[in-house]
Amino acid sequence: MALAGFMGTGKSRIGWELSRRLQLTFIDTDRVIERVSCLKIPEIFELYGEETFRAYETEVVRRTLRLDDVVVSTGGGTVVREENRRLLRARGPVVVLDASPETIYKRTRRHKRPMLEVGDPTERIRSLMRERAPAYDEVASFHVSGDDRVSTDVVDDIIEGLWSWAERHPDLAAQGPIDRREAPAPGEDPIARLDEAADAAFEESDAPEDA
Ligand code: S3P
Repeated sequence: MALAGFMGTGKSRIGWELSRRLQLTFIDTDRVIERVSCLKIPEIFELYGEETFRAYETEVVRRTLRLDDVVVSTGGGTVVREENRRLLRARGPVVVLDASPETIYKRTRRHKRPMLEVGDPTERIRSLMRERAPAYDEVASFHVSGDDRVSTDVVDDIIEGLWSWAERHPDLAAQGPIDRREAPAPGEDPIARLDEAADAAFEESDAPEDA
């Protein structure tokens, strides 16, 4: 499954927490691009320009979506390319996180975002949001608001949305990790579950043979 949404909507934080709750691996495509290129995203924009960044982005989206049992958090502009939307939709549910321009401004101010470095940042946020809204709508299996809410509430909403998505798309759900029976309840500690599973496996392998 994947998380999309404008810069500063909380994709990385929420994606990480969601992956812990669902016991999936978390992948943030921007971080993968930085690791692979050994450059920070603003440096890629400066040295090679947006088109090169978008090419890296598509390649990383394509490769990470091939993996099983992952929550993939994408960059804010990933949805702009039709090819990326198609790749995302083909692999399972896509949750789009929403937030108001004010929240986005507060959250993006601290870190450099090349796409916001022109003119008045609040005006730029509004115009980019307007421009990209149809792409977010098209890719979204459903939207969840990340505005002024604690992250556990946002994650709860996403998980509820995922169960109803899985009921509506049993074929796609069967290929992926979204299975209600296996999921930990809200508040359940997934690590404790892993410990239980490891203990059970150890007991099984360690059980004395019948004499
Ligand atoms: C971008 C969003 C950024 C990053 C790059 C371009 C965009 O990701 O991919 O700076 O075009 O909206 P975040 O959404 O994680 O900030």
